[in-house]
Amino acid sequence: MEKRKHTLTSIVSYPERGEGGNNRYRGNCSPKLIEDLIDFFHPMEICDYMCGSGTTKAAAEKCGIKSFIYDLHSGFDIMNCDIQERPEFIFWHPPYWDIIKYSDVMYKASDVESRYGYNPIKYDLSRIPKWEKFVEAMNYAMLKQFSSLEKGGRMAVLMGDIKKKGRLYSMLSEIVKPGTLENVIIKAQHNCFSDNIQYSGTFIPILHEYVMIVRKDESLIMPILCTHQVVNDIRDTKEATWKDVVAAVLEDCGTAVPLSYLYDQIQDHEKTKSNKWWKEKIRQTLQYNPSCFVNTSKGMWQLRKKTA
Ligand SMILES: C[S@@+](CC[C@H](N)C(=O)[O-])C[C@H]1O[C@@H](n2cnc3c(N)ncnc32)[C@H](O)[C@@H]1O
Repeated sequence: MEKRKHTLTSIVSYPERGEGGNNRYRGNCSPKLIEDLIDFFHPMEICDYMCGSGTTKAAAEKCGIKSFIYDLHSGFDIMNCDIQERPEFIFWHPPYWDIIKYSDVMYKASDVESRYGYNPIKYDLSRIPKWEKFVEAMNYAMLKQFSSLEKGGRMAVLMGDIKKKGRLYSMLSEIVKPGTLENVIIKAQHNCFSDNIQYSGTFIPILHEYVMIVRKDESLIMPILCTHQVVNDIRDTKEATWKDVVAAVLEDCGTAVPLSYLYDQIQDHEKTKSNKWWKEKIRQTLQYNPSCFVNTSKGMWQLRKKTA
């Protein structure tokens, strides 16, 4: 066993990938990250249920600890198979949604089917076309693995953000966080596929990923932090002011409109329920905010255009 120095900090960077696993297996990670996690937390064994090219096994061997590794390509589907161990430390490196597909790309689906009796394409997380369904599957897999941990055990999850058509799909933001959130480590990315892509417009190239570390402090009770999205109409919210509401209606229609249009668009919404003088309030809002609203002709209002 090699004696190594602790190098784990909240930002890590491994420009040289290191030895172990297969750097031709797409989306593989540096064994150095796993070695640093082992050196820092000193688990006696490590489990990886999406081991890909086996980087975790190589790191564990280098650090002189036992490993238990599985993958869809070798007979284990996290969604349907039972976890046999009671792990002390799980390293989890799920697919980056559908950015890199695994079944039938990194390994032949027909080989898996003839050897293990299932078609991996059906269960492969990287084959889930809708983000929401991917998040659901990721969160099921997260809670399943976390539930299997022994008390005091940890999960380190390596994941990234995906940018598509001007929207960020953030695995870190949407992944369920059971137990105690102990650390988020920023990991610089090197030699990734996207390095060679020329981006246009307002795309800020992503040069990092994250390692989230959660700890199981209790056997029976697990606090769970999760995100959910709500879609609100600004006319029904407590936080929006009258100026915000009137401006939003004018912005949405994009032209000068009479007061009656504003009344129609705002009545029946929560904003009017707490103020019986709501029509007066709309008129007052238009008059008191000349930097936002212009009276274009008698009784007609529109948003003031910004000038340079
Ligand atoms: C990002 S790769 C892991 C790479 C690995 N850390 C390495 O260095 O080679 C994700 C892995 O998840 C596996 N996978 C996808 N869906 C799975 C499932 N339902 N059950 C188990 N493994 C799955 C894929 O086969 C792929 O090998």
